Amino acid sequence: MRHNPFKINAARQEQAAGSRPLTLSGKPPVLLLSVLMAAGTLSAALLSSSSPSDSDSAGNGAGQCATCHLEIASRQLASDHAHTMMKVEDIPELMRALPVEHLDRASGVAYRIERSSAQPAGVDLVARMGTREETLRLLWGVGAGRKGITFIGQSDQGAFGQSRVSWYQKIGKLDVTTGLEKRPVDAYDALAGWLNPHESAHCLSCHMTRNENTPPDSIPEADAGVHCERCHGSGEQHIQAMAEETDNFSRGIDNPGRLGALEQVYFCGACHGIPPGGADLRALGHAMAMDHSVRFPAERLVLSRCYNESGGRLKCTTCHDPHENLASSFDGNCLSCHEDQAGFAIPCPQSNDDCVRCHMPRETGFMTHSAFADHWIRVVTSSD
Ligand code: HEC
Ligand code: HEC
Ligand code: HEC
Ligand code: HEC
Ligand code: HEC
Ligand code: HEC
Ligand code: HEC
Repeated sequence: MRHNPFKINAARQEQAAGSRPLTLSGKPPVLLLSVLMAAGTLSAALLSSSSPSDSDSAGNGAGQCATCHLEIASRQLASDHAHTMMKVEDIPELMRALPVEHLDRASGVAYRIERSSAQPAGVDLVARMGTREETLRLLWGVGAGRKGITFIGQSDQGAFGQSRVSWYQKIGKLDVTTGLEKRPVDAYDALAGWLNPHESAHCLSCHMTRNENTPPDSIPEADAGVHCERCHGSGEQHIQAMAEETDNFSRGIDNPGRLGALEQVYFCGACHGIPPGGADLRALGHAMAMDHSVRFPAERLVLSRCYNESGGRLKCTTCHDPHENLASSFDGNCLSCHEDQAGFAIPCPQSNDDCVRCHMPRETGFMTHSAFADHWIRVVTSSD
């Protein structure tokens, strides 16, 4: 069995940090814009003539926002939010590595991802079990690649499914998708977790900007990934206000930065895990007991004393710029409350840096090849 490993390189992350442009070929207009913008080769004025697909009937794409919000847009377009759902053929690292193979020893199923002449992407996942082979025509890669990518594809019979194998960054190769470990009965079963239209819409709902009820084979590229209007609402009125040259720039656009702490936790939590409501202590106890809730930062953060005893000062945006990937250090965020002089919260008797290592440790073991920082900020004891 040949394993052809690949890694999503750091270029995208570095670009997000503003240091280096990404070199991608065959990218759609929106992404191409980001490359040009990051390289500083395109002026804001030019961007207003962005391609029609950026401003389809469903709304105004990042391209239009970029006309005026160039700096934010170029960072956001390079982020994992924007890349969390990509056409398979637009994942250069995957395309270069093909064919990729994996043997699931537990079930004896042999998998390979290979080029084919099939439309639309020309990339197939083939599962062989015994003497039978079945094929999933791949459409989308879900997940930006920081941890993993699961594929959404279509069978010859027209059914949509999520691939039973995913690609994992940590090991640089394929392995069985979290949640689909159950032993398959035949090659067709081994291919994918099959999704009815409702399940497919739910699956993609947190990985795209709008119209998640569109069948996966008809989703326009501009709707895939989490872009401006998913968080800010439709930009139509806002852009209109600009055209009318009123000075009411904020009109018609939401700014989730203005939300109170709990409202913002719910806002981001729509995708990152909604915490149990109000005074439902049983639900809270449940969240605390459940290791896998570590995947859902919003559910864990509300358990922290930092959150509960800071009078609404602690929000998601205290520590995260939603237009960018994770920062490299969070000490400044912690110390904004826990520094001696600030006097707002007690300082640490143990250390004055690297706070996250001890108080928000990364947890593994409940999702394949993935670790998550525990947002229940606390003094972690050995019994935890
Ligand atoms: C023609 C120029 C223009 C376009 C196009 C434009 N904006 Fe703005 N926007 C502005 C200006 C000017 C402001 C006010 C100054 C500022 O905050 O930068 C603003 C403010 C904002 C704010 C802050 C609002 C607040 O209440 O704090 C958000 C959010 C925003 N824009 C998002 C968007 C999004 C999303 C798009 C694309 C759908 C977009 N803008 C398109 C010019 C524009
Ligand atoms: C529409 C759903 C959605 C909303 C709303 C959303 N996110 Fe995300 N977010 C995602 C998805 C999906 C990913 C995973 C990206 C990937 O594929 O790696 C992600 C990734 C992240 C990451 C990790 C970035 C990295 O370095 O990879 C952070 C931090 C984050 N989101 C913070 C926020 C915050 C803060 C908010 C609220 C302001 C928010 N998100 C709102 C869907 C969402
Ligand atoms: C309720 C919102 C939501 C739904 C529904 C959802 N995801 Fe995600 N998904 C996320 C968020 C948020 C992340 C980022 C998690 C992180 O890194 O903290 C993510 C991350 C991922 C990743 C990257 C690996 C990882 O763990 O970060 C993959 C792959 C993925 N999702 C696939 C899927 C597939 C396939 C479905 C449907 C079967 C699905 N997701 C349904 C919100 C969702
Ligand atoms: C994941 C959700 C999310 C996405 C996607 C997103 N934003 Fe934002 N945006 C926010 C939040 C949250 C704030 C408030 C930030 C704060 O207060 O720290 C914000 C603030 C802003 C502001 C106000 C100025 C500022 O820096 O605070 C502008 C302008 C803006 N966003 C434009 C955009 C544009 C343009 C895009 C697309 C290229 C975009 N945003 C995509 C969540 C998002
Ligand atoms: C918005 C202010 C704020 C921020 C930001 C903040 N905290 Fe706190 N934190 C508090 C408050 C308030 C308490 C309660 C104790 C006190 O009053 O000093 C607390 C308590 C704690 C405790 C004690 C928990 C316990 O269970 O006894 C730890 C540990 C801690 N914080 C670590 C951190 C770390 C690490 C960060 C950064 C990742 C951070 N905090 C960010 C406000 C904050
Ligand atoms: C006190 C600071 C702080 C606050 C507040 C905070 N985060 Fe985080 N977040 C972190 C740190 C630290 C990490 C891990 C960074 C790392 O490991 O490099 C992280 C990681 C993440 C990730 C990536 C998951 C992972 O572990 O790989 C997501 C998604 C995320 N945060 C979302 C959120 C959301 C949504 C909120 C609000 C409900 C939030 N965060 C509030 C500090 C914070
Ligand atoms: C090497 C691990 C480590 C690092 C790094 C670390 N802490 Fe701690 N911290 C601890 C331990 C262990 C305790 C509890 C034992 C104690 O009180 O001495 C603690 C206690 C705390 C407390 C509660 C103090 C009290 O009296 O209840 C706060 C608040 C805190 N740390 C914040 C931080 C902040 C902010 C940072 C970064 C500037 C940080 N810690 C870095 C290990 C660490």
